[in-house]
Amino acid sequence: MSRRDDGVAVVAGGSFRMRCPRCRHENRETARFCGECGASFGRGIACPRCATFNPVSQRFCDSCGQQLASTGTPERARDLRAYTPRHLIEKILTTRSALEGERKQATVLFADMVDSMRLAERVDAEEWHRVLDRFFQILAAGIHRFEGTINQFTGDGVMALFGAPVAHEDHARRGCHAALHMMDELRGYASGLGVRGLEFSVRMGLNSGEVVVGTIGDDLHMDYTAQGHAGGLAARMEQVAAPGTVYVSEHTARLVEGFFTLRDHGTPPMKGVSTPVRVFELEGIGPLRTRLDAAGVRGFSRLVGREEDLAWLDGILARVLESNGQVMGVVGDAGVGKSRVCLEFVNRCRARGIAVQEAHCPAHASTVPLLPIRELLRSYFALGDGDPAEMVRRQIADQLLALDPGFQDALPLVLDLLGVPDPDAPDISAASHDRLGGFLRRFIRLRSASEAVVLLLDDAHWIDRASDALVGELAAAVRGTRTLLVANFRPEYRPAWTGGSHYHQLPRGAAGDRGHPGDGAVPAHRARRSARRGGKARAAGGGRHRQAVRRAASQSRRRARRSPPRRGAERAPGGGVHPRGDAVPGAAIRVQAPADP
Ligand SMILES: Nc1ncnc2c1ncn2[C@@H]1O[C@H](COP(=O)(O)OP(=O)(O)OP(=O)(O)O)[C@@H](O)[C@H]1O
Ligand SMILES: [Mg+2]
Repeated sequence: MSRRDDGVAVVAGGSFRMRCPRCRHENRETARFCGECGASFGRGIACPRCATFNPVSQRFCDSCGQQLASTGTPERARDLRAYTPRHLIEKILTTRSALEGERKQATVLFADMVDSMRLAERVDAEEWHRVLDRFFQILAAGIHRFEGTINQFTGDGVMALFGAPVAHEDHARRGCHAALHMMDELRGYASGLGVRGLEFSVRMGLNSGEVVVGTIGDDLHMDYTAQGHAGGLAARMEQVAAPGTVYVSEHTARLVEGFFTLRDHGTPPMKGVSTPVRVFELEGIGPLRTRLDAAGVRGFSRLVGREEDLAWLDGILARVLESNGQVMGVVGDAGVGKSRVCLEFVNRCRARGIAVQEAHCPAHASTVPLLPIRELLRSYFALGDGDPAEMVRRQIADQLLALDPGFQDALPLVLDLLGVPDPDAPDISAASHDRLGGFLRRFIRLRSASEAVVLLLDDAHWIDRASDALVGELAAAVRGTRTLLVANFRPEYRPAWTGGSHYHQLPRGAAGDRGHPGDGAVPAHRARRSARRGGKARAAGGGRHRQAVRRAASQSRRRARRSPPRRGAERAPGGGVHPRGDAVPGAAIRVQAPADP
């Protein structure tokens, strides 16, 4: 018998057993308490060096000798609750009995300050305490922004989980977004400290795999069992990362490919890991934004069974082209094809020369205010991702003032919202909902005077609260304009803007459906003429984002021709765990009970 580095004994025949740290009795791998003496297995401290779980009573790791954080040092006193937002505490504690004992796919993240001991010696204890406190605040804010949870403080870093205890189908993407966000924030903080000779760097590591959630304490400390080294490997990733970088294992890389840019660093030797594991450096955001983008890169299957729905949408559009703006909700359970049917519809619109502006609501950003509204405006102003701030400011100002010189007043607000504030303008702290709403109403009306526009709001079930309120303004503003607002969402999301005589819903017959729009529909040739009136025909393939996705698709096809598909490549990006429409293309868009966590 040998011992795995996560404290689990390996017995002959390859199955794992848990040896009780108190009485040495051998228990089943899944045991949560010792069958002999009743000791709890869950509660333990992950070693900051090798991630082995140690009993809380130990001062040193019994696997590698590292001093454990929870030994009366100030870090031990770090209160998880103090660093966790109230809504997340409530979510975890109110559902903990259901969460405990669950098996979940999750992504484990380790973050660690490099050479913290050396740094600590340079300043007095009080100042060092302040530095660490700010450091942990930045880490906690980044992790919670993407709905991860801090599992424990590891002295000069943290161990965090995404996807457990709160399930998230896109746990790996959330982990990577959090890592990049924290790195950005920490770089800013560290360079500020650098002036005082205290500059620090951080390294991070991520791995994805199965975990079993154990007991969750009132203090939010959570025990979990990592199956197949999920936690240990994340710690190894962090250890092999160069200072200032984020490394992810091949398991995480497979789930986020295309959503992030990754640099292959081969299979470096790692202590305690016998099978070589490929590691990748997480460099930045990639060209893909949605799972549908990813499905498109792999190659869409032929669209089946949606012609009737598309004809219905066309009928609604015909009304819009006659200056009778409408709002359309496409509603259905996860994976039934809402985004796909909307994509087909907007592609057909583009092919007819109708302008399309898109905004997506990513699952990982439902707590990030105004992301879809920003995307919508960026789409309207045709802004590229890497465009320099000065160029972006000029582009926005030119377009807005050409629409209406009166927009001069709103310009600082819009520039601020889009992250390129005018350095000479007075500070716009917390742009008010009313001002933004007023701007959007006026903007939509003026733009629609010169061209017909289709606004697509994709995956609106993940919209943040601030954007949701502003979409309400948009839905009201499209009346009497040549603007069609199409949103798709799961039935658990019940937006306030789904009423009114200009609201329609797919599937037909559901609330808000006002009869077949084909009744009295405008003939196609008139619709085309109306669309062209004053409007610039858009390239059939859409905006800059779509071009980037197409580039990713052709690169992926070239890669696929060069090498056989990798094991697991057919998994849904983001580690989707729900039964989705991929298996049943053309499944009805039905209103059903919510399926998602
Ligand atoms: N009618 C169809 N014909 C062929 N493939 C389809 C069809 N509808 C959906 N699919 C495929 O099924 C998968 C899931 O579709 P889609 O992403 O549109 O679902 P969704 O309803 O938007 O899910 P979610 O609620 O998670 O956003 C995609 O790969 C899509 O290409
Ligand atoms: Mg969707």
